[in-house]
Amino acid sequence: MARISESKARNGASRRAFLKAGLAGGAMVAAGAAVTRPNPAQAAGDPLITETQDWNRYLGDGVDASPYGSPSQFESHVVRRNVSWLTADPVSSINFTPLHELDGIITPNGVCFERHHAGTAVIDPVEHRLMINGLVETPLVFTMDDLKRFPRENRVYFLECAANSGMEWRGAQLNGCQFTHGMVHCVAYTGVPLKLLLEEAGLKPEGKWLLAEGADASAMTRSIPIEKALDDCMVAFKMNGEALRPEQGYPVRLVVPGWEGNMWVKWLRRLEVGDQPWAQREETSKYTDLHADGTARRHTFVMDVKSVITNPSPQAPVTHGRGQMVLSGIAWSGHGRIKRVDVSLDGGRNWHEARIDGPSLPKALHRFYYDFDWDGSELFLQSRAVDETGQVQPTKDELRAVRGVNSIYHNNGIQTWYVKADGGVENVEVS
Ligand code: MTE
Ligand code: CO
Repeated sequence: MARISESKARNGASRRAFLKAGLAGGAMVAAGAAVTRPNPAQAAGDPLITETQDWNRYLGDGVDASPYGSPSQFESHVVRRNVSWLTADPVSSINFTPLHELDGIITPNGVCFERHHAGTAVIDPVEHRLMINGLVETPLVFTMDDLKRFPRENRVYFLECAANSGMEWRGAQLNGCQFTHGMVHCVAYTGVPLKLLLEEAGLKPEGKWLLAEGADASAMTRSIPIEKALDDCMVAFKMNGEALRPEQGYPVRLVVPGWEGNMWVKWLRRLEVGDQPWAQREETSKYTDLHADGTARRHTFVMDVKSVITNPSPQAPVTHGRGQMVLSGIAWSGHGRIKRVDVSLDGGRNWHEARIDGPSLPKALHRFYYDFDWDGSELFLQSRAVDETGQVQPTKDELRAVRGVNSIYHNNGIQTWYVKADGGVENVEVS
């Protein structure tokens, strides 16, 4: 997790207005009311229609211009960004997925957020080895070629850092869903089920835990219960069809579906089978949740049900004025599929069922939309997701009542965006 300055977090709470219930005005949205369609552009005399444009007149670049393609020059603002005060040094740092610029459920490889504890390891796949040792019949060492000879599978999963939204525990702070919620990405992985590799080595009956270790300079190590390892974990070498990006653990990473991102060890080099958890740094002093009474929650592996509205949001204000608006967002749960998402325009007083569109896959991002007619009045936008196990995303106040405000990790509270009459959007809290 990114190191967070506590004083900044506290100041942040006072920096933004805390809005009380009894919101002025409120959006006038009649269920089923006819929406006002956008005004078509004034076609008559528009030179973009009547004149021949350069791109229509001159030949474009040939096929050799970009052997590995990149996005349009007009999309150069769609990039990962960081928050400078969050971490002391870029090699132990974080940047965030530009969620407000994306759609659908898949995160493009070039903008998947990155979290490293010791920078990006650069590993020649020919020289990479994955060892399985400990409580197994036959300790094994795999080359990348060996791994690619096991039957492989393709599965789509979200990865969320346990520290996602961590800066928002004490109050609204960062102005943009990229910064408040951008430690999540969702990728189609190709890899070998971990179960097959463990079976190859032969698990001894007393083997109850697995230690996964990375080959980077941080040698990231986490304990994973053997039931999870045998259930749906993967050793992945491809993301969205191509080789893992170096930042994401090239040539091979562990995929631990629905569980906190820290366990998804990148540059995976060793799996040790043991009879109890190891109590590594990242499962004791980090990634645990300190309660007000001084006790801490440990082994909080599953990322609970969560959602956020990505558009509109502070980095994506409403620029088109009143009338038809496409509100959109993402929802996910480490417990399985998202069953339902509701959206509120008035800070949680009234709720409207959103439309989930696209594939609904377990432990993957879901895309939702709410299409409505904006009358130009202030909105307090919220989204609330429910997963297939019936878990409902809590309000931030509900979460704080149970967990206090010491924690950085596992904040799945409901986010509020304040949309002003001029279309500008701010991160606020409503209580
Ligand atoms: N694995 C290694 N080897 N080193 C690391 O620093 N960071 C972890 C995890 N695996 C890390 C690692 C953390 S905290 C997270 S949230 C995820 O990787 C981030 O994965 P990403 O960089 O692909 O987004
Ligand atoms: Co993390």
